[in-house]
Amino acid sequence: MTWETYRKEIEEKGQLPEDWYILGIDLGTTHSVISYWDNTNRRPEPIDISNGFGKIPLPSVVQFREGEGDDGEEEWVIGEEAYRSMKMYPETTIRSIKRKMGTNQTIRLGGKDYLPEEISAKILKELTDHAQNLNPKAEIAGIVVCVPYDFDDASQKATMRACELAGLQDKLICLIKEPNAAALHYNFRNNLKQDEKIMVFDFGGGTLDITLFHVAERNEARIKLAVVSQGGEAQHGGDDIDATLIEACARFIEAKTGQTLNDLAIENQVELVARAREAKERLSGVQRFRIPFTFCIPPFVEQITREEFHTLISPFIEKTRKLVLKALRETYTGSLTPDDIDRVLLEGGSSQMPWVREMLLDIFSDENKIYSSERPALDISLGATYYAAMKMGLLSHPDVESEKLTVDFEVTVPHDIGLEIDTGTEKKFFPMIRRGTFYALAKKSHVFTLSGNTEEEMTGFALKILERVQADDPFDACKPIGEISITGLPVRPSGRTKLRITLMVEEEGGLVRGRVEDVGFGSEYPSSGFDESFAPERFVKTELSGGASV
Ligand SMILES: Nc1ncnc2c1ncn2[C@@H]1O[C@H](COP(=O)(O)OP(=O)(O)OP(=O)(O)O)[C@@H](O)[C@H]1O
Ligand SMILES: [Mg+2]
Repeated sequence: MTWETYRKEIEEKGQLPEDWYILGIDLGTTHSVISYWDNTNRRPEPIDISNGFGKIPLPSVVQFREGEGDDGEEEWVIGEEAYRSMKMYPETTIRSIKRKMGTNQTIRLGGKDYLPEEISAKILKELTDHAQNLNPKAEIAGIVVCVPYDFDDASQKATMRACELAGLQDKLICLIKEPNAAALHYNFRNNLKQDEKIMVFDFGGGTLDITLFHVAERNEARIKLAVVSQGGEAQHGGDDIDATLIEACARFIEAKTGQTLNDLAIENQVELVARAREAKERLSGVQRFRIPFTFCIPPFVEQITREEFHTLISPFIEKTRKLVLKALRETYTGSLTPDDIDRVLLEGGSSQMPWVREMLLDIFSDENKIYSSERPALDISLGATYYAAMKMGLLSHPDVESEKLTVDFEVTVPHDIGLEIDTGTEKKFFPMIRRGTFYALAKKSHVFTLSGNTEEEMTGFALKILERVQADDPFDACKPIGEISITGLPVRPSGRTKLRITLMVEEEGGLVRGRVEDVGFGSEYPSSGFDESFAPERFVKTELSGGASV
């Protein structure tokens, strides 16, 4: 049955049958979380995937082991065990696959090539299998999966494909953007208010995502959230802090035993990585922690205080502060000050470090503005489950009379989209659609003049469409969306061919499309009628040719 059929049956029955599960998944770079809708208590609950050991997030680590399964067949190990043994199987352990989603970079394992979505599907399958383990009679009725706010079209499609490969094609209700899920989770516990400005500070293992929302509408039946700024950094997370601590631990070992990191056996290096991470996480709760170096000869213990830890990572803390200020400064609607923000939601495992709250308090000067749930690493998956329950018709707002509550996310284009321009001396990014433009308005045209010396130069050219992820990225850092080759334009003298190029972003799915029209040049050179639409593809050159005569 498809999720729509389940929804219809739920509507007819007027309730959710016991064995039907509505799920929300946060498919993270370093950790993933699955939650289900607890209909008795009318709230989402995370699923403990460690069989009662209390470790809820599943490390997003996939490992291939050749000939170690039953009957010497290949075996896939996913999660904690794969994470713990990755140093022993460095060639066949895959981490952070999320960063590759939407690319065609394959991963070779056991003589076979795998696309990122095929690896991601293994994580999804592992997560949904755990839901099945909760209740052998469990039937998945509907599922919502999270993606980062700035996932491009190709990455979103790859995520949908991963769901398909995990056997969830009929169950996937939709994707939801991670900060939207975080805001939704917050709303059901604390109520968003009209006109509030909310900052979602999502600090994970790999990435810091900062999203600013404006609550554009809030009444009994409707919440409308508009994103006004998106910032942060793709490679700025708990993993970077672990790396600094590992270096510090290596210095302790060298001072005590004279051994360098490379002198350590592989399994001891694994141990060291785990100890460094443990120290970081423990220091979120205690002021000092004694790191046991039991694997060294001689074994020893080294104490690290929270203050020493902060000194060690102070450049990282400073950079984090700058990223917050930058997100405030670079909103689509003009610069905001900390006073304009009504609430900061702390999300992601790394936001549990006490310096995060201190740093934000220093910026926002008001403790009441900074909000964190008990388990911030789970909020996004819980938010996705709220959304899934809404979509399945199970949830109206607890405090309002109205039967149905709808949530609209007014979606804006996350990155600048434009063309590559060659000035003759240098290549430049020419912005057409600016980040922050509402999808509904994301359509821009510009008339370009074609100049050249040869017939070939005047009858054809190549158009490169680019995406500028950060507003201050230099040309070289722009990502290609697609390349269009145009041929068959009329032969005219240089400067006498004018072309109108239009780019637009589709509201559904955020796909970029475009159009090239020959607009002619006065009465002397009427339009040739060349008018072609295109849908660029990242990996294939799109060819447009006109049979235009002079
Ligand atoms: N108590 C804690 N104190 C400090 N850090 C913690 C704590 N608990 C978890 N972490 C860190 O949180 C990070 C994982 O966070 P999370 O699960 O939110 O990441 P993710 O969603 O996989 O990553 P991303 O958002 O980058 O895709 C890890 O670096 C982990 O060490
Ligand atoms: Mg995350």
